[in-house]
Amino acid sequence: MKKVTIGKTTVSVLSGDITAWKGDIIVNAANSGLLGGGGVDGAIHQAGGPEIMEQCKEIRKLQGGCPPGHAVITGGGNLEVKHVIHTVGPIWEGGGRGEAITLAECYRSSLQLANEVGARSIAFPNISTGIYGYPKSPACDVALKSVAEFLEEEQQQNQLEQIDFVCYDAENAELYARWLERYD
Ligand code: APR
Repeated sequence: MKKVTIGKTTVSVLSGDITAWKGDIIVNAANSGLLGGGGVDGAIHQAGGPEIMEQCKEIRKLQGGCPPGHAVITGGGNLEVKHVIHTVGPIWEGGGRGEAITLAECYRSSLQLANEVGARSIAFPNISTGIYGYPKSPACDVALKSVAEFLEEEQQQNQLEQIDFVCYDAENAELYARWLERYD
Protein backbone atom coordinates (compact mmCIF):
# COMPACT_ATOMS: atom_id res chain seq x y z
CA MET A 1 0.00 0.00 0.00
CA LYS A 2 1.52 3.33 -1.14
CA LYS A 3 1.29 6.25 1.32
CA VAL A 4 2.60 9.79 1.85
CA THR A 5 2.30 12.19 4.79
CA ILE A 6 1.14 15.75 4.20
CA GLY A 7 1.14 17.79 7.39
CA LYS A 8 -0.56 15.62 10.04
CA THR A 9 -2.39 13.48 7.44
CA THR A 10 -1.39 10.15 5.93
CA VAL A 11 -2.71 9.73 2.38
CA SER A 12 -2.87 6.12 1.15
CA VAL A 13 -3.97 4.10 -1.86
CA LEU A 14 -5.88 0.87 -1.18
CA SER A 15 -7.46 -1.66 -3.50
CA GLY A 16 -10.88 -3.14 -2.83
CA ASP A 17 -14.51 -2.49 -2.03
CA ILE A 18 -15.10 0.79 -0.21
CA THR A 19 -18.16 -0.67 1.59
CA ALA A 20 -15.75 -2.88 3.57
CA TRP A 21 -13.63 0.09 4.67
CA LYS A 22 -13.68 0.89 8.42
CA GLY A 23 -13.27 4.40 9.78
CA ASP A 24 -15.22 7.66 10.18
CA ILE A 25 -16.48 8.50 6.69
CA ILE A 26 -16.74 6.95 3.24
CA VAL A 27 -17.54 9.12 0.23
CA ASN A 28 -20.18 8.06 -2.29
CA ALA A 29 -20.08 8.99 -5.99
CA ALA A 30 -23.78 9.86 -6.16
CA ASN A 31 -25.97 11.60 -8.70
CA SER A 32 -27.74 14.89 -8.19
CA GLY A 33 -31.05 13.14 -7.48
CA LEU A 34 -29.57 11.38 -4.42
CA LEU A 35 -31.80 8.37 -5.03
CA GLY A 36 -29.10 5.78 -5.63
CA GLY A 37 -27.85 4.18 -8.81
CA GLY A 38 -25.32 1.63 -9.96
CA GLY A 39 -21.57 1.54 -9.31
CA VAL A 40 -20.31 2.57 -5.91
CA ASP A 41 -23.64 4.38 -5.25
CA GLY A 42 -25.49 1.09 -5.63
CA ALA A 43 -22.94 -0.78 -3.53
CA ILE A 44 -23.11 1.72 -0.66
CA HIS A 45 -26.91 1.72 -0.53
CA GLN A 46 -26.99 -2.06 -0.81
CA ALA A 47 -24.51 -2.57 2.03
CA GLY A 48 -25.61 0.46 4.06
CA GLY A 49 -29.29 -0.39 4.14
CA PRO A 50 -32.48 1.69 3.89
CA GLU A 51 -31.53 4.20 6.63
CA ILE A 52 -29.09 5.95 4.28
CA MET A 53 -31.71 6.24 1.53
CA GLU A 54 -34.25 7.60 4.03
CA GLN A 55 -31.81 10.34 5.02
CA CYS A 56 -31.07 11.11 1.37
CA LYS A 57 -34.82 11.54 0.79
CA GLU A 58 -35.00 13.93 3.77
CA ILE A 59 -32.17 15.99 2.23
CA ARG A 60 -34.04 16.00 -1.08
CA LYS A 61 -37.10 17.33 0.69
CA LEU A 62 -35.11 20.10 2.35
CA GLN A 63 -32.86 21.23 -0.49
CA GLY A 64 -33.89 19.33 -3.60
CA GLY A 65 -30.97 17.23 -4.88
CA CYS A 66 -27.21 17.85 -4.72
CA PRO A 67 -25.58 19.90 -7.50
CA PRO A 68 -22.38 18.58 -9.11
CA GLY A 69 -19.31 19.52 -7.04
CA HIS A 70 -21.34 19.77 -3.83
CA ALA A 71 -21.63 17.24 -0.99
CA VAL A 72 -24.19 16.20 1.62
CA ILE A 73 -23.81 13.91 4.64
CA THR A 74 -25.88 11.06 6.11
CA GLY A 75 -25.33 8.42 8.76
CA GLY A 76 -23.46 5.23 7.93
CA GLY A 77 -26.41 2.82 8.23
CA ASN A 78 -25.11 -0.77 8.45
CA LEU A 79 -21.64 0.22 7.23
CA GLU A 80 -18.70 0.31 9.67
CA VAL A 81 -18.48 4.09 9.41
CA LYS A 82 -20.11 7.01 11.23
CA HIS A 83 -21.13 8.88 8.10
CA VAL A 84 -21.43 8.67 4.33
CA ILE A 85 -20.70 11.84 2.37
CA HIS A 86 -22.56 11.86 -0.95
CA THR A 87 -20.92 14.01 -3.60
CA VAL A 88 -21.83 14.40 -7.26
CA GLY A 89 -19.04 14.30 -9.81
CA PRO A 90 -19.11 15.81 -13.29
CA ILE A 91 -20.27 13.80 -16.27
CA TRP A 92 -17.34 13.74 -18.72
CA GLU A 93 -18.22 15.70 -21.88
CA GLY A 94 -14.75 15.95 -23.40
CA GLY A 95 -13.09 18.22 -20.83
CA GLY A 96 -14.25 21.59 -22.10
CA ARG A 97 -17.22 22.01 -19.74
CA GLY A 98 -15.31 22.70 -16.49
CA GLU A 99 -15.27 19.01 -15.52
CA ALA A 100 -11.87 19.31 -13.78
CA ILE A 101 -13.07 22.22 -11.65
CA THR A 102 -16.23 20.38 -10.64
CA LEU A 103 -14.31 17.20 -9.82
CA ALA A 104 -11.84 19.15 -7.65
CA GLU A 105 -14.82 20.73 -5.88
CA CYS A 106 -16.15 17.24 -5.02
CA TYR A 107 -12.98 16.42 -3.10
CA ARG A 108 -12.75 19.85 -1.46
CA SER A 109 -16.42 19.93 -0.43
CA SER A 110 -16.11 16.43 1.03
CA LEU A 111 -12.99 17.34 3.03
CA GLN A 112 -14.64 20.50 4.34
CA LEU A 113 -17.75 18.58 5.39
CA ALA A 114 -15.62 15.87 7.02
CA ASN A 115 -13.86 18.54 9.07
CA GLU A 116 -17.18 20.08 10.06
CA VAL A 117 -18.17 16.80 11.74
CA GLY A 118 -14.74 16.34 13.31
CA ALA A 119 -13.82 13.23 11.33
CA ARG A 120 -10.30 11.81 11.65
CA SER A 121 -10.46 9.37 8.71
CA ILE A 122 -12.12 9.32 5.29
CA ALA A 123 -12.14 7.06 2.22
CA PHE A 124 -12.76 8.20 -1.37
CA PRO A 125 -13.69 6.15 -4.43
CA ASN A 126 -12.38 7.28 -7.82
CA ILE A 127 -15.22 9.75 -8.40
CA SER A 128 -16.63 10.10 -11.95
CA THR A 129 -14.33 7.46 -13.50
CA GLY A 130 -17.07 4.85 -13.93
CA ILE A 131 -20.52 5.58 -15.32
CA TYR A 132 -19.69 9.29 -15.64
CA GLY A 133 -16.84 8.46 -17.99
CA TYR A 134 -14.08 10.73 -16.69
CA PRO A 135 -10.75 9.38 -18.03
CA LYS A 136 -8.90 7.77 -15.13
CA SER A 137 -5.50 9.42 -15.46
CA PRO A 138 -6.67 13.05 -15.52
CA ALA A 139 -9.24 12.24 -12.80
CA CYS A 140 -6.46 10.81 -10.62
CA ASP A 141 -4.42 13.97 -11.13
CA VAL A 142 -7.35 16.21 -10.15
CA ALA A 143 -8.21 14.06 -7.13
CA LEU A 144 -4.73 13.92 -5.64
CA LYS A 145 -3.83 17.53 -6.51
CA SER A 146 -7.01 18.88 -4.91
CA VAL A 147 -6.55 16.78 -1.75
CA ALA A 148 -2.85 17.68 -1.46
CA GLU A 149 -3.63 21.38 -1.95
CA PHE A 150 -6.38 21.25 0.69
CA LEU A 151 -4.00 19.65 3.20
CA GLU A 152 -1.21 22.14 2.39
CA GLU A 153 -3.52 25.19 2.57
CA GLU A 154 -5.78 24.18 5.48
CA GLN A 155 -3.20 22.82 7.95
CA GLN A 156 -4.81 24.85 10.73
CA GLN A 157 -8.45 23.80 10.33
CA ASN A 158 -7.81 20.28 9.04
CA GLN A 159 -8.21 17.51 11.65
CA LEU A 160 -8.15 14.53 9.27
CA GLU A 161 -5.29 12.14 10.04
CA GLN A 162 -6.10 9.48 7.41
CA ILE A 163 -7.28 9.87 3.82
CA ASP A 164 -7.59 6.63 1.84
CA PHE A 165 -8.25 6.33 -1.88
CA VAL A 166 -10.01 2.97 -2.31
CA CYS A 167 -9.51 1.81 -5.91
CA TYR A 168 -11.86 -0.81 -7.28
CA ASP A 169 -9.81 -1.56 -10.37
CA ALA A 170 -6.11 -2.19 -10.94
CA GLU A 171 -5.69 0.67 -13.43
CA ASN A 172 -6.81 3.28 -10.89
CA ALA A 173 -4.73 1.65 -8.14
CA GLU A 174 -1.63 1.86 -10.33
CA LEU A 175 -2.29 5.47 -11.35
CA TYR A 176 -2.80 6.59 -7.72
CA ALA A 177 0.27 4.71 -6.43
CA ARG A 178 2.45 6.21 -9.16
CA TRP A 179 1.13 9.70 -8.42
CA LEU A 180 1.98 9.35 -4.72
CA GLU A 181 5.46 8.08 -5.58
CA ARG A 182 6.09 11.24 -7.60
CA TYR A 183 4.73 13.43 -4.79
CA ASP A 184 7.13 12.09 -2.19
N1 APR B 1 -15.91 0.23 -3.97
C1 APR B 1 -15.02 1.15 -4.46
N2 APR B 1 -15.12 1.68 -5.69
C2 APR B 1 -16.12 1.24 -6.47
C3 APR B 1 -17.07 0.29 -6.05
C4 APR B 1 -16.94 -0.22 -4.74
N3 APR B 1 -17.80 -1.10 -4.23
N4 APR B 1 -17.96 0.07 -7.08
C5 APR B 1 -17.54 0.83 -8.10
N5 APR B 1 -16.43 1.53 -7.75
C6 APR B 1 -15.63 2.46 -8.54
C7 APR B 1 -15.74 2.35 -10.04
O1 APR B 1 -14.95 1.26 -10.52
C8 APR B 1 -15.17 3.69 -10.44
O2 APR B 1 -13.74 3.63 -10.44
O3 APR B 1 -16.08 3.77 -8.26
C9 APR B 1 -15.63 4.63 -9.30
C10 APR B 1 -16.78 5.55 -9.69
O4 APR B 1 -17.64 4.85 -10.59
P1 APR B 1 -19.24 4.94 -10.46
O5 APR B 1 -19.66 4.26 -9.23
O6 APR B 1 -19.78 4.47 -11.76
O7 APR B 1 -19.51 6.50 -10.25
P2 APR B 1 -19.39 7.72 -11.28
O8 APR B 1 -18.53 7.40 -12.44
O9 APR B 1 -19.05 8.89 -10.40
O10 APR B 1 -20.88 7.86 -11.84
C11 APR B 1 -21.88 8.26 -10.94
O11 APR B 1 -23.18 6.34 -11.38
O12 APR B 1 -23.90 4.80 -9.87
C12 APR B 1 -24.27 5.92 -10.57
O13 APR B 1 -25.86 7.00 -9.14
C13 APR B 1 -24.56 7.09 -9.67
O14 APR B 1 -25.52 8.35 -11.45
C14 APR B 1 -24.37 8.22 -10.64
C15 APR B 1 -23.19 7.76 -11.48
